[in-house]
Amino acid sequence: MTILHIDASINGENSASRAISRSIVDQLTIDRRDSGLVYRDLAAEPLPHLTLEAFADTSVLEEFLAADAVVIGAPMYNFTLPTQLKAWIDRILVAGQTFRYTANGPEGLAGGKRVIVALARGGFYEQGSPASALEHLETYLRGIFNFIGIEPEFVAADGLNISLEQRRESIDLALGETVRLAA
Ligand SMILES: Cc1cc2nc3c(=O)[nH]c(=O)nc-3n(C[C@H](O)[C@H](O)[C@H](O)COP(=O)(O)O)c2cc1C
Repeated sequence: MTILHIDASINGENSASRAISRSIVDQLTIDRRDSGLVYRDLAAEPLPHLTLEAFADTSVLEEFLAADAVVIGAPMYNFTLPTQLKAWIDRILVAGQTFRYTANGPEGLAGGKRVIVALARGGFYEQGSPASALEHLETYLRGIFNFIGIEPEFVAADGLNISLEQRRESIDLALGETVRLAA
């Protein structure tokens, strides 16, 4: 199994999404010594904004297509994903490769892959909460992966900027949740 592990947080070792995505990868590889791992740190080595010329370089797309499982650390910045992660998505949503338009509408072509996202959010956004309309991270990622034929799984740590106690509790809960992913 080849795992593609992506991080995007600018917070280095203090990052919750990095800790959770690492734990997910640990769980996926725990009994699989044959796993191949490709790591891409989009904060340390950002992809440039998309240009027409950048379309010619298909290396990021090929890396994605070659993976059996993709683990993504996704912090919420300004109610959505970091621009570093958006630049990566701009390279994997490619007509004719990961989706196509048909007479019956768009069709995803990237199915058969497991995508697991570690979300880290400063606030709470559950349905019905005052800030729920501002949630454009999980909803966006679910939308784009559905679009290319994948049902992503999410492990979320929420309320991380409410208090230190809440932060610890939410991260512990999320790390605990990663254990079930090995099954
Ligand atoms: C630049 C910036 C913008 C942020 N914007 C939001 C936001 O809009 N909503 C929110 O709930 N949290 C926001 N946060 C808080 C982060 O989501 C939270 O600190 C989370 O832990 C970030 O993930 P990380 O620890 O992996 O970096 C923001 C943090 C930063 C640094």
